[in-house]
Amino acid sequence: MQIDILTLFPEMFKSPLSESIVHRAIEKGVISIDLIDFREFCHDKNKQVDDYPYGGAPGMIIKPEPIFEAIDYLKARRKDLIKSKEFPIIYLTPQGEKYNQNIAKELCQEDYIILICGHYKDIDYRVREHLVNREISIGDYVLSGGELPAMILIDSIARLQKGVLTHIESAETDSFHDKLLDCPYYTRPREYRGYKVPDVLLSGNHKKISEWQENKKIELTKQARGDSN
Ligand code: ADE
Repeated sequence: MQIDILTLFPEMFKSPLSESIVHRAIEKGVISIDLIDFREFCHDKNKQVDDYPYGGAPGMIIKPEPIFEAIDYLKARRKDLIKSKEFPIIYLTPQGEKYNQNIAKELCQEDYIILICGHYKDIDYRVREHLVNREISIGDYVLSGGELPAMILIDSIARLQKGVLTHIESAETDSFHDKLLDCPYYTRPREYRGYKVPDVLLSGNHKKISEWQENKKIELTKQARGDSN
């Protein structure tokens, strides 16, 4: 899977892409990520990427040209991947649909994705009207840009790729896999500072253990999410 990220701050991605599961996915070649600094597509001498909003409003707006041109460049560069298929061109914005595990599962099936990270107040709306085909929010709060949300998408997508997790069943029991939050887990020692591991988990009775786990999932989901889940 190829993911191209349009950003004005490519350095922000350095550490998240070179550690842990995402790094492993890249090393294994199941995911490939390119960072495109779309400031490079500005033609003026100062490479100014933003401008004042028409009609007046506080804050600056990213101009349409560098983003349109960066996407033209990528469409030509990735034409073997794209063929005739429509592929996701995603803009990260608090105004988008709320990200969840189902969207991660959907996106992990794609061969090619473009992520557009805005910054400043917003990007010119024509990019959203005529280029972008999906808008995603990671939650109801406002960040300074789309870089952190893009990293969240990448992490959640990378770990779902085949061959990335050593225990793929781990993804199958994660929270949200079956609309429930995951159950508690314990490891050795059996007792720590007087705190004990629940007896049932040490019983060796697999039926009883799965019943306990299922009940805990329901209980914890109710506790944390009330009736909303
Ligand atoms: N950019 C700024 N805030 C965001 C959010 N909550 N989700 C996605 N992109 C964003």
